[in-house]
Amino acid sequence: MSVRSKYTDTLHFYGKETPHDLVEKFGSPLYVYNENVLRERCRDLVGLCKTEGLHINYSAKANANPHLLKIIREEGCRVDAMSPGELYLDLKVGYTPEEILYVCNNVSKEEMQNALDKGVLVSVDSLMQAEQLCRLNKGGKIMIRFNPGIGAGHSAKVVTGGKETKFGVDPEKLPQLLEILEKYNVTLAGINHHIGSLFMEGEQYIEAAKILLDLALKLPHFDKLEIIDFGGGFGIPYHKYENQPRFDLENFSGMLNETLSDWAKAHHYQGKFYLEPGRYIAAECGLILGSVYNTKTNGAKPYVGTDLGFNTLARPMLYDSFHDVEIYRKNLPQNFRTDGKEMEQTIVGNICESGDIIAKNRVLPVIEEGDIIAMLDAGAYGFSMSSNYTQRLRPAEVLIRKDGTAKCIRRRDSFEDIFATITDC
Ligand code: LLP
Repeated sequence: MSVRSKYTDTLHFYGKETPHDLVEKFGSPLYVYNENVLRERCRDLVGLCKTEGLHINYSAKANANPHLLKIIREEGCRVDAMSPGELYLDLKVGYTPEEILYVCNNVSKEEMQNALDKGVLVSVDSLMQAEQLCRLNKGGKIMIRFNPGIGAGHSAKVVTGGKETKFGVDPEKLPQLLEILEKYNVTLAGINHHIGSLFMEGEQYIEAAKILLDLALKLPHFDKLEIIDFGGGFGIPYHKYENQPRFDLENFSGMLNETLSDWAKAHHYQGKFYLEPGRYIAAECGLILGSVYNTKTNGAKPYVGTDLGFNTLARPMLYDSFHDVEIYRKNLPQNFRTDGKEMEQTIVGNICESGDIIAKNRVLPVIEEGDIIAMLDAGAYGFSMSSNYTQRLRPAEVLIRKDGTAKCIRRRDSFEDIFATITDC
């Protein structure tokens, strides 16, 4: 029994382990993933693909741990890469070039060439980058990211559609784009967009999808189009303890499949459709455990001091993102109850910046030194955005497998790792 653990208890998230055992074995802080949850989230999405040719293209920027990528592939998802490193990992775990899309922006010719050499279709998002890619790939294929003019997302920093953002080709520039493609005899094999990240209702996504479908019909070589990719952005309920409703996949699936199958039928489209979720697949299978080393008040404000600095989970610092908190305590008395013992607390990390806050003004049971806490829903954009700021070591990652046992899937950084790239010293 723990102080606040109902959510992970219900899921049997830790399998045969306990948070304290895991921290003892693998150290703190620690990313922990649950295989069953990951598979379930993949199945939710693969299951909604009822339209012929509709695929899930996992956006690996959310979490590119190869062990997770393998599971995601086993569940029938394809993958996108947006950097040579992601492409390297995708290929390494067995994705074939046909199963990978390279969706990049503002990259060098060498980077484009690297993806072309691997046989992967590359999406670029400006006329200049299109011309650069065409020069490298005369007579070949290209994919273009358009800006649908509408965006959505949890923070202005992650809204990627609309005129205020750096992304995509303005559809009005289609004539110039077609001229470039013709000059190099390059086929427009795919079109894509991504309106932004974390919305809880599907209407805007469908609205944007219709804009891309309309655009597809304006292409003179519509019959050569192989992929129409609508991007990701499907949200997950971060407010677990307030029973925040889930993204309504059933309703979304109805709207999406109807829109796509009617359109494909009406226009004799034989190609594929992609959805490109990252967060929806990876967020809920992962959390980060941290240790409480200190509690204090500054003025009237209670602080809980942990090892969860923003180098380990950057989202709260970067976007004011909310992650729910669980609290685990060893050796609780048999009849322990938290009723009435809650108070507002601010959980902070060990970085020397005032913004190093991982959970602000939360009404929670009183947290004590020696507790382990979990920040839930940290599987997406958690480890993948972690850093060595202040030369702290990035956490290890552990997978709770189907049989409930824990397997280390990435060791903690070592001091040798942070010295490894230093030259002549
Ligand atoms: N496709 C493209 C082209 C993208 O740029 C992204 C995310 C996705 C798909 C997947 O989006 P998702 O389904 O995960 O929302 N670091 C931020 C999120 C940044 C998303 C960037 N692009 C966060 O922690 O909220």
